[in-house]
Amino acid sequence: MIIRPMRQPDDDEGVRALDRSFTTDSIYRVIQTPLSFTLEQVRVHPAVTKEFPFDADFGERHEAEHARVAEDGGSIVGFTAFTHERWNRRTAVWHLYVSPSHRRQGVESALVKTVIEDAHSARTRCVWLETTSAAYPPIQFCRHLGFELCGMDTSLYDPAVNSVGETALFLSRSI
Ligand SMILES: CC(C)(COP(=O)(O)OP(=O)(O)OC[C@H]1O[C@@H](n2cnc3c(N)ncnc32)[C@H](O)[C@@H]1OP(=O)(O)O)[C@@H](O)C(=O)NCCC(=O)NCCS
Repeated sequence: MIIRPMRQPDDDEGVRALDRSFTTDSIYRVIQTPLSFTLEQVRVHPAVTKEFPFDADFGERHEAEHARVAEDGGSIVGFTAFTHERWNRRTAVWHLYVSPSHRRQGVESALVKTVIEDAHSARTRCVWLETTSAAYPPIQFCRHLGFELCGMDTSLYDPAVNSVGETALFLSRSI
C-alpha cells in the first residue's frame, strides 16, 4: 500500500467510489444543563448506519489541493483531505474514509500521519475536525490518534436532515 497526494482528475472516480458509511451499536448522547454539556455513551438497538455526504461539498474549500490517497494494487482504498487555516494557524481535516475491506489495518492512521507532518511543515498549531455525536467508531479512531474533544454545537445540524439528537462535535490534536 502506498500513501500519495491525490491526483485530479484521475483519482476523482476512485475517491468518490469509497464507502463513507459506518455502522455502530454505540453513540454519544449529549446531556445539556443550562451551563454544561456532558457526553454519555449509550447503546442503540438496532445498530445505526450513517454515511458521510461527499458530493455536495467536495472542492468548495479547495481541500483537494491537500488531499492524500492510500492506494493498494492500483485501487484507491483510503482518502483524507485538509486545509491550512492561516488566520488561526489551524489545520482542518474535511474527509477521512477507508474502504471497509481495508479498515482496522492502519490505513487512516497512515493518512493522518501525513496530515500531521504537513501541518508541522505549515507551522499550524493543531489539527481539527468536525464529526457527529453518532460517529462513535470514528471518534474512537480520533482519540486513538491523540485527538481530544474541543467543542460542540447543538444548533449546527438541521434535524430535518440529520437524525434527531445528532450533535456536532469538534476534536483537535496539538502538533
Ligand atoms: C474511521 C475510519 C476512517 C478509520 O480508518 P481505519 O483505517 O480503519 O483506522 P485504523 O486502522 O488506522 O485504526 C487505528 C485505531 O483507531 C481505532 N479504531 C479504528 N476504527 C475503530 C472502530 N470502528 N471502533 C473502535 N476503534 C476504532 C482503533 O484503536 C485502531 O487500532 P486497532 O485496530 O489496533 O485497535 C474508517 O473506519 C472509516 O472510513 N469509517 C467510515 C467513514 C468515517 O466514519 N469517517 C470519519 C469521519 S469523521
